[in-house]
Amino acid sequence: MQTWQKETVIYQIYPKSFCDSNGDGIGDIPGILSKVPYLKALGINAVWLSPCYPSPNDDNGYDISDYRGIAPEYGTLDDFKTLLDTLHQNGIRLLLDLVVNHTSDEHAWFEAARQSRDNPYRDYYIWRDPVDGHEPNGWRAAFGGSAWEFDEKTGQYYLHLFSRKQPDLNWDNPKVRQEIADMINYWLDMGVDGFRCDVINSISKDFTADAPGMGPHLHEYLHELHVKALGPHGALTVGETWGMTPAQTLLMTSEARGELTMTFQFEHLMLGRVGWDKFRRCDVDRKAFVDILAKWEYGLKDDGYPVLVMENHDQPRALSRFGDDRYPFESATMLAALLYGMRGVAVVYEGQELGLANPTFPTLADYRDIETINAYHEMENDYDEQTLLEMMNFGSRDNSRVPMPWDGSAHAGFTTGTPWIVADFDPTKTVAAEEADENSVLWFYRKLFRLRQNDPVLLHGDFELLQNEDGTAVYRREKDGDVRLVVVRFADTPAPLPTIVPANTEALLANYPNGGDTLRPYEARILKI
Ligand code: GLC
Ligand code: CA
Repeated sequence: MQTWQKETVIYQIYPKSFCDSNGDGIGDIPGILSKVPYLKALGINAVWLSPCYPSPNDDNGYDISDYRGIAPEYGTLDDFKTLLDTLHQNGIRLLLDLVVNHTSDEHAWFEAARQSRDNPYRDYYIWRDPVDGHEPNGWRAAFGGSAWEFDEKTGQYYLHLFSRKQPDLNWDNPKVRQEIADMINYWLDMGVDGFRCDVINSISKDFTADAPGMGPHLHEYLHELHVKALGPHGALTVGETWGMTPAQTLLMTSEARGELTMTFQFEHLMLGRVGWDKFRRCDVDRKAFVDILAKWEYGLKDDGYPVLVMENHDQPRALSRFGDDRYPFESATMLAALLYGMRGVAVVYEGQELGLANPTFPTLADYRDIETINAYHEMENDYDEQTLLEMMNFGSRDNSRVPMPWDGSAHAGFTTGTPWIVADFDPTKTVAAEEADENSVLWFYRKLFRLRQNDPVLLHGDFELLQNEDGTAVYRREKDGDVRLVVVRFADTPAPLPTIVPANTEALLANYPNGGDTLRPYEARILKI
């Protein structure tokens, strides 16, 4: 792994919701371009753009109809190249979203494939005959219903792990793998620096399993992409992989294997909800939150590399789930110090740096996300409307997809037109308001990233968890005898500063003024010994 890759702070942009330049209510590339100074001031050094390719938008761009184009609502390929150049001139790398488990059903390959059983593109997708007049197996799609859709014209089912408008590609077909490698090279040759790889552990299927999961050829296919495209370009890749162990992660990210650079781990994001059911809330086990993060630090200590994440476009806001709305500043900044004080690549999602909480969606009609809407209808008969709305307001992916709040003007300064989704916002938590207040969450993130990027100990030092009990966690970072301690109070009550913290420390960053020997609610200190 190259050093720059380990020192990356990635800012995820959801193009549809970031900044609208032309008043059509949809964020776009010129809008992003106008915010490059903001990104630079934040201290990030890479941007990950959620998909900006042409798409019918059944799943907001994760259903791609042309892998080599730019969605007209986002701009032109020239706009994209201008953004790429401008980011590079500002020392910011650009990662695209690589969505290759499936395409849109409106992709030319699928449109050809569904014409006839002997079409040359038929085998780009996964087709099966009906079994006793039914679906070939009981697999369920992530957005509800069967994972199989019957195609009347050719009398077979096709597989879709997500919506029926997202048919799965057949990675066992070498032509598909070559097309994907060529497409990756097309973007890397243009100057793109890498990819976030959507549901990448699903590309190979195990049809003997009861539910879709990792298939037998995953590593072989990833290695092939590495050899043909990613490796020669030195691209940075971050795989989206849910439900992995550190050992499984190393099989994808160990240097010696030549597959991916690193993968997200989301185990801590399973807390505060009931298992895989993202709409059912439960208490957050705060001790487990820290223990899980530590487990991954240890698991990827010698090989692979940790990725530090707590929000993205599929998650509700971290503050609403893991923080405390009675202490919005303290808990948001404590979570940031706890997570990004660790060793790993930092990933921050647009608006997280403002300490945003989940917005309010008054009715079902205010939601846009296919997963949320389908889940609502699936549960409609089991709960009353109020309960359903509370569940959606807790777990919906739209919680993080409302417009980025730039200022206190109409629609938070996101658009001069009508936003594509409600622009509910808190006027005290806009970019303009927080830029004007040095004690804001935004300024804390700025200081934290600056500190991290200039401190070899925080960037590369070893990690050791020293204490995690009764709501207080302390961990240590060390490089060549230089030591930092990160001390956090993950509770709404005060507690004595642990005795393992020496007296003669210097606070490099803290979310309360004046140290002292009591930790206050959600206090966080990054200390130099
Ligand atoms: C990933 C994306 C999510 C999308 C799904 C299907 O999980 O993050 O937004 O719906 O893949 O592409
Ligand atoms: Ca627009």
